[in-house]
Amino acid sequence: MNQAIETIMKRKGTLSYTNQQINDSDRDTIISCGIAGPTARNLQNRHFTVVQKQELLQQINDGVRTVMSAPSEYNPLYGAPTLIITSAPVENAPFADQDCAIAVENMSLAATALGLGSRYIVSPTRFIESEAGKILKQTIGIPEGYRSVACLIVGYDADPIQAPTTRNMNVVNYVK
Ligand SMILES: Cc1cc2nc3c(=O)[nH]c(=O)nc-3n(C[C@H](O)[C@H](O)[C@H](O)COP(=O)(O)O)c2cc1C
Repeated sequence: MNQAIETIMKRKGTLSYTNQQINDSDRDTIISCGIAGPTARNLQNRHFTVVQKQELLQQINDGVRTVMSAPSEYNPLYGAPTLIITSAPVENAPFADQDCAIAVENMSLAATALGLGSRYIVSPTRFIESEAGKILKQTIGIPEGYRSVACLIVGYDADPIQAPTTRNMNVVNYVK
């Protein structure tokens, strides 16, 4: 099978990670693939924040759990050692959510191609954009006037033999 197609078919939302951090070269490749995604009117005004500091990841994990009123055993970051947050200008960027979503999916496919696990998540934005997340948002350097939109967690898959989620294929109609 064509390698790009194989990567798309192999991608899955990883739910458990080892403690091992991804290397900087893989991290940079993943970010480059995010930046390579298309943006509406080629405005390119989305930002990428890479969080790898354990203390801050823990703070985000716990903050999300609190805003979601989730039980203590729920870890919204699933123990992943890297969190990439895409953010976009609050003003004058009507399609920015789509720009961010595309970037995250590109990065997820890049992670898969590099043999890493990843998962598209939005739950961190619930904390980051809340009153409780204000200081953290500044600490991690999300630009002033930007709001977090979509995120990717990345790391080594602790359960690599888990198969991708099955899909309902009955969702297409063809008009010829
Ligand atoms: C827009 C979007 C938001 C998502 N948000 C979360 C999230 O906050 N937390 C989470 O665990 N998974 C989240 N997911 C992952 C989906 O639950 C997952 O992709 C879906 O169950 C299909 O599984 P797969 O990725 O393994 O194919 C999100 C996915 C998308 C596309």
